[in-house]
Amino acid sequence: MDQIAPATKATPTLPDAQTVTSVTHYTDRLFAFRCTRPLSLRFRSGEFVMIGLLGDNGKPLLRAYSIASPSWDEELEFYSIKVPDGPLTSRLQHIQPGDQIILRPKPVGTLVLDALLPGKRLWMLATGTGIAPFASLLRDPETWEKYEQVVVMHTCREQAELTYGRDLIKALPDDPLIGELVGDKLLYYPATTREDGQYTGRVTDNLSSGKVFADLGIAPLDPATDRAMVCGSLAFNLDIKKVLENAGLTEGANSSPAEYVVEKAFVD
Ligand code: A2P
Repeated sequence: MDQIAPATKATPTLPDAQTVTSVTHYTDRLFAFRCTRPLSLRFRSGEFVMIGLLGDNGKPLLRAYSIASPSWDEELEFYSIKVPDGPLTSRLQHIQPGDQIILRPKPVGTLVLDALLPGKRLWMLATGTGIAPFASLLRDPETWEKYEQVVVMHTCREQAELTYGRDLIKALPDDPLIGELVGDKLLYYPATTREDGQYTGRVTDNLSSGKVFADLGIAPLDPATDRAMVCGSLAFNLDIKKVLENAGLTEGANSSPAEYVVEKAFVD
């Protein structure tokens, strides 16, 4: 059985320590938690930071985690997988309110609105915990000010794994800050690949077959108006890039904005 690292509790001398304020377990593979936010931390919605715990050797064991909370939130939120033998997540999954984690306050990343050229429709394409940066972007007023329509395609193996994203999407219309901005701009396409549900099949297949356009009653991808942000496993990211490139979209970066951007979701 995995042990909680003794260093996570009552260790006031942790470098860059932040305190966990809440933890929610969604499935035996997925959990989310919130923690205090360093006063100095400014970030753009969609960026990631390095977070972790002290390793057995006394050195910080850090991994890249997308910040799932919006930039205006006074706390920080993260959404994580639990890997039974993962060096960090096997221990991180046991954190509880009051515990400390390490957080390096240096946000970076390409999944930011500035890395995209202006457009009309924004696609958020995620598998698994890849929904995390979109949880931040969906709660950022700028997303809704910049786009006429936002399509969220989130695909997981099973229904229960969609819960975090589904709850977030459901709460958007009532959000005091962005509820009115969202209006009828949001289209949500939650799909599963190993269980039946409202929609089934991989994001890649549903885009290349045109199924998602038919299901939602919208026009196919057009590089003149469509922009996309991608976050998922390495295999997914590689495959979806081909789909987007086939549709005529080119990859952008902070230094050279274009039609789509990609980030790898945290995986171990
Ligand atoms: P599938 O069930 O067909 O493997 P995981 O939990 O393994 O990260 O997978 C999350 C979701 O991403 C699953 O629905 C999975 O579908 C899908 N997926 C995995 N690899 C790819 C890929 N290369 N292209 C598209 N979807 C993928």
